[in-house]
Amino acid sequence: MSSSRVNTAPQGALRAESASASGVSSRRADAAYRVSFADIGRDFPGERGSTRRILRNISLDVRPGEVLAILGTSGCGKSTLLRLAGGLDSATAGSILIDGSPVAPFDARTAVGFQEPRLLPWRSVAENVALGLPRGTSKADGAARVAQLIELVGLSAFAGHRPREISGGMAQRASLARALARNPGVLLLDEPFGALDALTRLKMQDLLLDVHQAAPTTVLLVTHDVDEALQLADRIILLGREEGVEGSSIAQEVVVPGRRPRDRGSAELAELRGRLLAGLGIDRHGEARGVEKTTAMPTFPY
Ligand SMILES: Nc1ncnc2c1ncn2[C@@H]1O[C@H](COP(=O)(O)OP(=O)(O)OP(=O)(O)O)[C@@H](O)[C@H]1O
Ligand SMILES: [Mg+2]
Repeated sequence: MSSSRVNTAPQGALRAESASASGVSSRRADAAYRVSFADIGRDFPGERGSTRRILRNISLDVRPGEVLAILGTSGCGKSTLLRLAGGLDSATAGSILIDGSPVAPFDARTAVGFQEPRLLPWRSVAENVALGLPRGTSKADGAARVAQLIELVGLSAFAGHRPREISGGMAQRASLARALARNPGVLLLDEPFGALDALTRLKMQDLLLDVHQAAPTTVLLVTHDVDEALQLADRIILLGREEGVEGSSIAQEVVVPGRRPRDRGSAELAELRGRLLAGLGIDRHGEARGVEKTTAMPTFPY
C-alpha cells in the first residue's frame, strides 16, 4: 500500500471497540449487511402526466462486506439507485432488503457520503463528525468515538478547525468520518472523490480501503472513474439502457480479480478497463461514441 495511507487499524478494531466499550452501536456489532435488490424499478413523473422510467428490472445481491462499484453514463440512474438503498427515495417496483428486512425511510443502518462534504461551516471538524452519531449516544461515548474516527481519517490535528480552515480533501475525510459515526452496516458513497484533484483522490481511495478494513461495512460506491472502480471494488456493475427500451438495467457485471491494493498497470485490469469503457461508450482514446458528451464523462487520457 502506498505511503499515503494513514492510521491503519487492525481489521475490525474500530468496530469491536465501538460496540463493546462505547456501546454506541445501534445494531449488531461487527456486522456489514447484505443488500438485496429484487426487480427494482423507478419511474419519475414526466411531462404532461407521462412517466419517465429511469431504472428497470434491477436484481442484485451485495454480500456483507463487499465493495460494489456502480458505473454508468451521466443521468442513467446511479444516484437514484443509491438513494433507494438508503431509503431516501422509494422504488416504483420491486423491493430492497438490508440484512433481510425492508429498507426504511432514511434507514439508520445506512450512511450516505456525497461528492461535496456538506459540512456545517460554523461547526468544528469534531462537531461535524459528531453530527453523524446515532441518537441517544452519551456525551462521553460520543466524544471517544469522534476522536477515534478523526484519528482514523488522519485529522486529529485539525479536530478544532472550521471547514474553511481545512483543504477540500480534509473536508471530504471529515465527511467520511461523519458517515462512519453512524456505524453503518451499509455505506453509500455517491462520487465521494469526484470533486478532488487527482493526487488527493488517489490518497482518498487508499483511505477508503483502510477504513473498510478497520470498520467492516458493505460499500456501494457510485463513480464515473473506471480506474477507481477497478482499484476499490470487489465487483462492478455498469448501468445502461438497451436500445429502444426505457430505463437503465445492469448492462455489465464484472468481478474484479486480485486482492487490494491492486497493480494499476496489470494486463488483466487493462482488459477489464477496456471492456468497461466500451460499455460506457468510450473508446481507448477517450472519445465518446454514440453517447451524448457531458462534462460528467470521464476526462482522463485513457
Ligand atoms: N426526484 C426526481 N424527480 C424527477 N426526476 C428525477 C428525480 N431524481 C432523478 N431524476 C431523474 O432521473 C435521472 C437519473 O438521475 P440520477 O441522478 O440518478 O443520474 P446519475 O446516473 O446519478 O447521473 P450523474 O452521473 O450525472 O450524477 C435523471 O434524468 C434525473 O433527472
Ligand atoms: Mg449522480
